[in-house]
Amino acid sequence: MAQDQFVNRHIGNGPEEVAQMLATIGVKSVAELIDQVVPPQIQLPGPLDLPEGMSESDFAAHIRALGAKNKPLRTLIGMGYYGTATPAAIVRNIFENPAWYTSYTPYQAEISQGRLEALLNFQTVVSSLTGLPVSNCSLLDEATAAAEAMIMMFNLRSREAQKEGRNVLFVDENIFPQTLDLLLTRSEPLGIELAVDAYGEYEFSGREFGAILQYPGANGHIADYSAFAAVCHEKGMLVTAVADILSLVLLKAPAEWGADIAVGSTQRFGIPMGFGGPHAGYMATKDAYKRNMPGRIIGVSVDRLGNPALRMALQMREQHIKRERATSNICTAQALLATMAGMFAVYHGPEGLKRIAIHAHAHAHAAAQLIRGLDYELVSENYFDTIEVVADAEKIEAIAVKKGLNLFYPTNDTVHISFDEVSTLAEVNTVAAVFAEAAEKEAPAATEVPEDLYFDGAFVRTSEILTEKVFHKYHNETDLMRYIKKLERRDISLANSMISLGSCTMKLNSAVSMMPLSLAEWGNVHPFVPLDQAEGYMEMIRGLERDLAVITGFDAVSMQPNSGAAGEYTGLMVIRAYHHSRGDYHRNIALIPASAHGTNPASAAMAGMKVVVVATDANGNVDVDDLRKKAEENAANLSCLMITYPSTHGIFESKIKEIMEIVHRNGGQVYFDGANMNALVGLSSPGYIGADVCHLNLHKTFAIPHGGGGPGVGPIGVAKHLTPFLPSHPIVKTGGTEGITAVSAAPWGSAMVQMISYGYIKMLGASGLRRASEMAIVAANYMACALKGHYGIVYTGETGRVGHEMIVDCRNFRADYGVETGDIARRLMDYGFHAPTLSFPVHDTLMVEPTESEPKAELDRFLETLIAIKAECVASVGQEDHIVRNAPHTAYECCGADGEGGWNHPYSRMQAAFPLPWVVENKFWPYVSKIDAGYGDRNLVCTCDPLESYL
Ligand SMILES: Cc1ncc(COP(=O)(O)O)c(C=O)c1O
Repeated sequence: MAQDQFVNRHIGNGPEEVAQMLATIGVKSVAELIDQVVPPQIQLPGPLDLPEGMSESDFAAHIRALGAKNKPLRTLIGMGYYGTATPAAIVRNIFENPAWYTSYTPYQAEISQGRLEALLNFQTVVSSLTGLPVSNCSLLDEATAAAEAMIMMFNLRSREAQKEGRNVLFVDENIFPQTLDLLLTRSEPLGIELAVDAYGEYEFSGREFGAILQYPGANGHIADYSAFAAVCHEKGMLVTAVADILSLVLLKAPAEWGADIAVGSTQRFGIPMGFGGPHAGYMATKDAYKRNMPGRIIGVSVDRLGNPALRMALQMREQHIKRERATSNICTAQALLATMAGMFAVYHGPEGLKRIAIHAHAHAHAAAQLIRGLDYELVSENYFDTIEVVADAEKIEAIAVKKGLNLFYPTNDTVHISFDEVSTLAEVNTVAAVFAEAAEKEAPAATEVPEDLYFDGAFVRTSEILTEKVFHKYHNETDLMRYIKKLERRDISLANSMISLGSCTMKLNSAVSMMPLSLAEWGNVHPFVPLDQAEGYMEMIRGLERDLAVITGFDAVSMQPNSGAAGEYTGLMVIRAYHHSRGDYHRNIALIPASAHGTNPASAAMAGMKVVVVATDANGNVDVDDLRKKAEENAANLSCLMITYPSTHGIFESKIKEIMEIVHRNGGQVYFDGANMNALVGLSSPGYIGADVCHLNLHKTFAIPHGGGGPGVGPIGVAKHLTPFLPSHPIVKTGGTEGITAVSAAPWGSAMVQMISYGYIKMLGASGLRRASEMAIVAANYMACALKGHYGIVYTGETGRVGHEMIVDCRNFRADYGVETGDIARRLMDYGFHAPTLSFPVHDTLMVEPTESEPKAELDRFLETLIAIKAECVASVGQEDHIVRNAPHTAYECCGADGEGGWNHPYSRMQAAFPLPWVVENKFWPYVSKIDAGYGDRNLVCTCDPLESYL
């Protein structure tokens, strides 16, 4: 039945609209255009070797059947992943709400005030609980956050310490194995040595620059680190706490015992385990170190009318500015999950969080009492939610599985048990029964779980938490629902209008592919369960790996990297491992075109490579002569070239094969940045063209929603010779035979959202995937042609066509009309649109990527808007009080905020707010006016006290 075919739902245009667009472009058929755009020598000779698409209803049934194959037992493994109850009001109003999950990273602050406030709440939670004043608005997971902290401490070394070559990081041995593995991965290329030891017994060598301590420890023990931290400080070291966020509700804050940085995961604040992710990692630090903190920080500023307004502060585009000197390569993070975790704290408030934390703690204590009563030895008397018992692990495991429990078995004679928000009395008694059976004793049974604090009083938190107003106002569902809706109305997402961000592929995130995320069969699976309890997940992941290998033309795929930049890093580390396996330890030069995305050089630096920049020519292509010269000059030490294709200029360079040959001839590997795969799927592939490794942004091409800045998934595909080096994991077997150590905390990264891409591919099938790429190219070329005479297009290919996106030229606007590109972006808001990508990769331009999902009528509204804004610029030359420069116009201003009937502009209110007739049908009112960026950076405030108090 044609109507039920997903391809017809996903692609925004039918035959009639396509014919109209082709007429504007001036070609007779889609095939004719594709032949003009995609160089013939790279076109695939036949269709993708994938089945045809499933219908939406068949997919829904299929994914339900797969979900039923996940049969996790009640899991008390802990190790960074815990049972939690996501409040239904947050599931329905945020997690399942396209207004929240389809929005973009809040670069355009004026139309992002809702998610900015939600993220500010998250930062406030993290700051309050850790006791450290500056928090960012998420990192990728706990283990990568710890690695980021290591690098931050390394970069913060004093000049003297650098001169002395202090490069040792002390890591307390009581740390989760996945965190330690990430520290290993990230330290080695940077020349950092790890000293893993017991903090109480460690003898300092004098070469340490920092220390990492887990709090509570991996075995559940709460230690008093204060004396150790003081010694570290005396020795000029910094101290990072890897802290369980829920425990901090009850325990002394890391800052109170001397931590300079705190990192961790906020998964247990209402985010399903999802077989490993996505969840928001966090980081907080002291004010003195704020400029070295990776990731994004939300800060408070003021708008043109003096009202409080939020924006991303400080280093929001630092990779693009600092390139290989950036503090980190992190770009996409975990914004949606941070929003949810922050809202969990808003909903429960400090008292609710205390209830939850005491609940987990008291259940652990009740179990501990019963187990101790059976004469088992407990490793620690001071624990929060996790107890470690000395017992025969094999024996306990056999009985626990029979009784429906997953526990954790770190050694042959120890067992970990972690309790959580959803633990029950019955569960405590079942745990006790397991130990009783192993000891051949009668099972004891508790009749109640008295809620109290059972650890040493010295550890008890006495400082207040979450004193800010927002954590005291929304504790019933009506209030919370309205608060979430209030914030939602301040943002533009795909639920409002097209978001034509070049290089970001803001396409449809279909409801049918999102729906399975709400099913408990997928949400409640811990990443370290025995794999026979996760058969549905394994089938989905293996299927997706296979499909992506076909699409990329590669041998194998790793799903572990949890963002595009993490994929870059992984791919580069795999290349590095390959060179090392051949004895080529010296190959460390990465050639990177000047036009590359900022994460490319940042990732190369993190992988221990030296960046050599390759020029681009006047047409925006890689300058092949310069590439040849640099490749030959560096042949002895060449590691790789990183190239984006189609280029970040939106062009299919015809010399791409020659470029790859030059690199191979000089001993290098080709890293293919797959961020622009939306122009390529089914038409060509990195493997077919000749690359060795690529990452894909599943949150672009393969329809995972952007979430207001994450989650992302950045799998890598590799050619056969690189397959052995795909990343491993310390707890669950995965990766290649000589796999590099882990790049994410979970073995398959953010597994839960991979279902969205799985569904996208299964429903489009071979021909639908190709059709999507073709339609993305048709839409971009249609827009480029329709703009002729109004705006220039900066770069076109040899046949005069663009790829799937185009760079719209505004470079003359400042000189000709006195208007900045940022002003155009803000004026688009008055018309109801999110701006395209601003000034990347070319200054003073707009990069527009329409995608295949946008209907022609929407493209036409956007075109009409761009043309109208140009006319406004032309008409307003010389005016001080300028309609474009004043944008956006808020409802408050239009109604006379300047005073009684006040409207003092030379243009009318109607012109300001309803500049085209159709705007009235779908008016978006920006909540704030133009934001003063500098003010926010000069007066950094990044927690949410009452806004009035800042001004
Ligand atoms: C060309 C390119 N490469 C890499 C990335 C990094 O991906 P992520 O943001 O998922 O880390 C981006 C993101 O915008 C990109 O456009």
